[in-house]
Amino acid sequence: MPDVDLATIADVRKYLSDTPFASHTISALAGGSANFTYRIHLKNPFQGKETFVFKYAAPYVAASGGKMALSVERQKFEVEALRLFRKMHADDDVITVPAVYLFDEEAHVMILDDCGTDARTLKQLVIDEALPQIVAEEIGAAIGRFLGRIHAWNKNVSFDMGIFSNNEVGKMISALVTYGRLISTLSGRDNIAALADPGLDIPEGKLAVISKLAETRSFEISNTAEVFTHGDFWPGNIMVSLRRESEGGTLRLEKLCVLDWELAKAGLRGLDIGQFCAEMRLLQRFYPSRQEEASMIMRSFLLAYRGSGPDEALARVAIAHIGAHLVAWTPRVHWGDKEDTRKTVVEGVELLVGGAEGTLAWLKGSLVGNLM
Ligand SMILES: Nc1ncnc2c1ncn2[C@@H]1O[C@H](COP(=O)(O)OP(=O)(O)O)[C@@H](O)[C@H]1O
Ligand SMILES: [Mg+2]
Repeated sequence: MPDVDLATIADVRKYLSDTPFASHTISALAGGSANFTYRIHLKNPFQGKETFVFKYAAPYVAASGGKMALSVERQKFEVEALRLFRKMHADDDVITVPAVYLFDEEAHVMILDDCGTDARTLKQLVIDEALPQIVAEEIGAAIGRFLGRIHAWNKNVSFDMGIFSNNEVGKMISALVTYGRLISTLSGRDNIAALADPGLDIPEGKLAVISKLAETRSFEISNTAEVFTHGDFWPGNIMVSLRRESEGGTLRLEKLCVLDWELAKAGLRGLDIGQFCAEMRLLQRFYPSRQEEASMIMRSFLLAYRGSGPDEALARVAIAHIGAHLVAWTPRVHWGDKEDTRKTVVEGVELLVGGAEGTLAWLKGSLVGNLM
């Protein structure tokens, strides 16, 4: 189909028209930025299901309107990761991943299970609702267990890292969006309004520590081979469905679904842990009424992850990554006003420095103390 532009709903409809996925309604899904993602409502159910998700990877970042090129290879990593998950796990847990029904490598299209028309991203859920303690705990624990299992795949003799050793674009992106812009963000070179007038004035000594850490970590991202990681493990890539036990009854966790595996690669465990916790920290800072839920989710996440005992090296990578995420992302995503943004970036600086140089006692008292 040479003349279709799958960035438009009309052409998605055309693309699907001669397939079992022909749809009467197609709606764009928000919440991502790299791809064009749609919910499709089929004319006739397929394997008993009426809705699916259609994800199109254009050769550019969808949200950039075509300005920022991005390799379409990324979709292969996502499909392979989702298939690998099926191979490694029985599909009966409270937390799962969508199955893949179609992968058109030429058109860069995949069709996936819909995680549910009532599912929300974990980020949105925490913003929207005051969650009962038990639900926050269940969510954190399920996600921690899940991540711990994925990170242990390499211990299984049948596991093969395959293409994930060589997700070069993924490695480049992961390093670039955090460690690659720490110094330019902090020094004012990136001209971010919230961090100017006046500048942040971070002491030279701290900048030097951060600069060295950024270099080391970027090197490790490119050269670490043994552990399979998700690569973009943030609450915007985790869908949550809740249910009420009865009408007006207690709210319970129904299902969690982990999406968006394009950055899956052999990598650093602490980056998945750190990215997840950094976003929980951001929710705490910018939605003070959600302080407790976010802390509960983070706590049960870390405790459930920590299956194999205390791990100082891991805790250092994770806490520093929380710092890197706070510095690099807070001023680039609209979280809140200038003052709160600056304070959060300064917290990020302290976490980066602490990750590199903090004492054991500091580490134990930090946000990732539960890994210790
Ligand atoms: N299988 C799915 N079921 C339900 N919603 C989905 C599904 N896949 C994606 N979405 C929705 O679309 C958004 C973007 O999808 P995602 O895979 O994260 O794309 P991107 O790579 O652009 O971030 C998600 O945040 C989620 O809200
Ligand atoms: Mg996403």
